[in-house]
Amino acid sequence: MIATPENPFRAGLRTERVGEPCAMVIFGASGDLSHRKLLPALYNLGLTGVLPANFAVVGFAKDDFSRDSYRSEMKKAVGEFSRRKPLDEEIWSDFAAGLDYVSGNFDDPAAFQRLKAALERADKERGTRGNRLYYCAVPPSVMPMILKQLHDAGLLQNGGRGNPWSRIILEKPFGHDTDSARELNGNVHDVFAESQVYRIDHYLGKETVQNLMVFRFGNSIFEPIWNRQYVDHVQITAAEDIGVERRGGYYEEAGILRDMVQNHLMQLLSLTAMEAPVAFDADAVRDEKVKVLRSIRPVLREEVQQYTVRGQYARGAYHGKPVPAYREEERVAKDSRTATFTALKLFIDNWRWDGVPFYLRTGKRLPKRVTEISVHFARLPHSLFGALQTDTARNVLAIRIQPDEGISMRFNSKVPGEGMRVRTVNMDFRYGQAFGAEPPEAYERLLLDAMIGDATLFTRADEVDTAWKLVTEILEGWKEWNAEPSSYEAGSWGPQAAEELIAADGRHWRRL
Ligand code: BG6
Repeated sequence: MIATPENPFRAGLRTERVGEPCAMVIFGASGDLSHRKLLPALYNLGLTGVLPANFAVVGFAKDDFSRDSYRSEMKKAVGEFSRRKPLDEEIWSDFAAGLDYVSGNFDDPAAFQRLKAALERADKERGTRGNRLYYCAVPPSVMPMILKQLHDAGLLQNGGRGNPWSRIILEKPFGHDTDSARELNGNVHDVFAESQVYRIDHYLGKETVQNLMVFRFGNSIFEPIWNRQYVDHVQITAAEDIGVERRGGYYEEAGILRDMVQNHLMQLLSLTAMEAPVAFDADAVRDEKVKVLRSIRPVLREEVQQYTVRGQYARGAYHGKPVPAYREEERVAKDSRTATFTALKLFIDNWRWDGVPFYLRTGKRLPKRVTEISVHFARLPHSLFGALQTDTARNVLAIRIQPDEGISMRFNSKVPGEGMRVRTVNMDFRYGQAFGAEPPEAYERLLLDAMIGDATLFTRADEVDTAWKLVTEILEGWKEWNAEPSSYEAGSWGPQAAEELIAADGRHWRRL
């Protein structure tokens, strides 16, 4: 699995570098994420030729797999979920030769001694040189225990000056609210320096999300108009057509704000609104993102009814088939008040964005899966061609995050023919068309970055903390509001209240 320069897929990755030799330990190795995302991503990195030659994976979970049965279980998973099919037997067996499994409980020191032995074996047999990449694909409540056990078993090294390193990737959700996230950050910092910590937000691994930075800071024509003087408002939509599926138990505790807003939407918002960083490196980029988050005007508890909407899906249809209401989903309370939709109106109180509303909406069981950021420019000061000062005639720049990744610009054009009729048209850039190659999955990018030691696309402690503060205040407000969430039919664009939130300002949501 050595990188070859002629490998065509390499050109699509952010770095020309290959991961450093290391053993990756996955806590929660038998879970859904490992099956669907992590192992397929590692296999694809192997296929692409960017996995380090000296690499091993040790799965850790309580399920009773042997090394061989874990390998065959993962082979099945990769066969099913890899983005590239069919499975390449040669690459797989090369990869599987370095795949081991330790069965044990997170609170059992003996299991961590077995893990230590497996890692030492990997060093000997695979040449992983004592470098460790820990991946916590477990609920946040379990993380402190894992951190403690790693420390007690002597499984942590600081790296530096060519010494073996340890890094840790932490899956979301990172905490449940401000206090729990702070406590968890405290637990993490007890045993790791911040530079060793990689908090994952898979949206940052999406090609189009990274392109936001290139689009803004790699071109000279957009930045001058990217501010309150020219922008009327910004909309960010992350719509999903699926319901909560089998995650009812988790979702009851999380709800839409924790599941999508605290992390993914806040990331999209900060990348859209941030200032140019002084360099494209982990600290410079994250410094600017944190500044944006700090500048968001908090929605105070007593203001939630004015600035936020919470919805919950009722029965409806999904691609023409009837689907149950949220309250009828597995492991969801019959009288649940958990929100599956939210719309927010936020302001960023800084020089660039003063007075420009950012409207955010996200939800489950909406008509389609689409994530988009749209920048709506100011109306014409004076129109020579009829009613061009309306909302629908504004110039709009839309960045399509997924699917049909691309960017489109809406502007007004003369309709051919006599007279001076004007209509809006779109100028489109489509990723697929322009570059042909399929972009790597978010997890591929992020795992490789962690192996290389590049934390630019991971969230820093202060970023997570600031995002939680905003979201926790809204959650508290919702609790005090003590009202039923507005109901919306599955397959619709959310409750009427979401339309009213934006219509009250004389604007409307973009039709997607
Ligand atoms: C996850 C949420 O973080 O993101 C899920 O927990 C959600 O509820 C998912 O479905 C959406 O991710 P994507 O990549 O499909 O937009």
